[in-house]
Amino acid sequence: MTTRAVVKGVGHYLPERVVPNAEFEKSLDTSDEWIRTRSGIERRHFAAEDETTSDLASFAAMAALKDAGLSADDIDAIVVATSTPDLTFPSVATMVQQKIGMTRGFGFDVQAVCAGFVYALTNANALILSGQAKRVLVIGAETFSRIMDWTDRATCVLFGDGAGALILEAQEGTGVNADRGVLSADLNSDGRYKDMLFVDGGVSTTGDSGKLRMQGNALFRQAVEKLTSTAHTALTKVGLTDEAVDWIVPHQANIRIIQGTAKKLGVPMDRVIVTVQDHGNTSAASIPLALSTGVAEGKIKQGDLLVTEAIGGGLAWGAVVIRW
Ligand code: ACO
Repeated sequence: MTTRAVVKGVGHYLPERVVPNAEFEKSLDTSDEWIRTRSGIERRHFAAEDETTSDLASFAAMAALKDAGLSADDIDAIVVATSTPDLTFPSVATMVQQKIGMTRGFGFDVQAVCAGFVYALTNANALILSGQAKRVLVIGAETFSRIMDWTDRATCVLFGDGAGALILEAQEGTGVNADRGVLSADLNSDGRYKDMLFVDGGVSTTGDSGKLRMQGNALFRQAVEKLTSTAHTALTKVGLTDEAVDWIVPHQANIRIIQGTAKKLGVPMDRVIVTVQDHGNTSAASIPLALSTGVAEGKIKQGDLLVTEAIGGGLAWGAVVIRW
């Protein structure tokens, strides 16, 4: 028998305020048409002034707990992927612990920008396989609206706020790819690409949280190639090919990146979960938001083979293969 980290429940939360592309036309030299055709984004949600990343994360966590039929104290660990924490410390994970009323276990944050959820999922899987935890709440939560330069039309129209969560539970499998649960993962980073995507502030430099800076065009060129390669590697690790894939659940940065990667993987677009039009780029929250939306829409079903893939600042990128 082999221990597997199996998905028990999933949920998400989006802030109430929806901002359509047209709203940016009032303050920037941009258009709904440009944003739609270059990125696929039509609208995004922005958190209210008094709404923090840990609030969004807690609402998503409670939705996932409800879906799993579990209570907070059934969870052993919380792993939150975020680059926009409420405070420099403590972690968002411990704030979520308090907000959902979990009085045991442990929590910590993972920071790998848009690849954060893939990193968090891989860490959560390792906690389960090593016997450190039986049930792990894995959350991606962001308030990227707080690190936007509202005068930079090349970045501020692309990002949004939100949170998604899933619960992984230790279950016995047989060690074959038909088992439910996380089947494989592939993680990568390369610090030489730092200037392609970064935030120009921080605790040990400027003392403030800074604003996002991106060389969108250069990053675009890296994205399709690296995402295809990491998805291939994760599948190959367990002897699977692209044909076995029921759903690609990609990081939602740009529809053209999503289409380019699916094409290179040989997976038709009707087997790709796409939410970028409604959420924009929510960084580490985008994959769990897409997973939760895909389940809610009746697309992702138990037993389906999923590949999640993401790339972001670092650069950091990776993929996880899951039998849902
Ligand atoms: N409205 C109108 N024009 C604009 C806007 C805008 N909002 N933004 C940029 N432009 C202009 C540029 O100034 C440029 O004009 P110029 O030719 O006169 O200089 C022109 O549009 C073309 O700009 P490009 O940057 O070449 O446009 P491109 O087609 O590459 O699309 C985009 C830009 C959407 C940013 C794309 O490059 C992209 O999605 N890149 C990847 C982003 C990504 O993958 N991020 C993932 C990680 S995110 C994370 O980790 C946090």
